[in-house]
Amino acid sequence: MVCLGNICRSPLAEGILQQKIREAGYDWTVDSAGTNGYHIGEQPHVLSQKVARDHGIDISGQCCRKLMKEDLLVYDRLFVMDQENYAAVKRICADYWQIEKNDRKVTMILDLLYPGENREVPDPWYGTEKDYRLVFDLLSRACDRLIDQYSSQSTAG
Ligand code: 4NP
Repeated sequence: MVCLGNICRSPLAEGILQQKIREAGYDWTVDSAGTNGYHIGEQPHVLSQKVARDHGIDISGQCCRKLMKEDLLVYDRLFVMDQENYAAVKRICADYWQIEKNDRKVTMILDLLYPGENREVPDPWYGTEKDYRLVFDLLSRACDRLIDQYSSQSTAG
């Protein structure tokens, strides 16, 4: 899960997907990172923590980190929150982008809900709790769709 600061959106996405895979009984490794390093070492934003906690998810133990180019090799899928971060992932991971179809691993997370529309998860950094709740709802629906897609693929045939 990748956003700009790894402070607001991607920590929520990490916590939400971790909760859902636990419920679904899957054993995936889920992590998050930011494309810039302004907040390295910090906890998620207080409003991300609050909105998550209101849904029974504790993200207080997360620690902000910057995306590394090796992340493109380590993970099967990278979900980005917006176009700017898609471009930043491409830049950071340039050494590996065009080998082994690695570029196909990287998609806009809202493509799960709205394929081909290039919709973005809005940046709530200057927003209010309402904006964080909107982000939570979008990410929760996207993660539900990811698990549905995976479940139907793994049972097909
Ligand atoms: P995020 O939000 O990318 O969802 O973590 C932001 C966090 C920090 C900043 C901008 C967006 N910032 O400018 O420091």
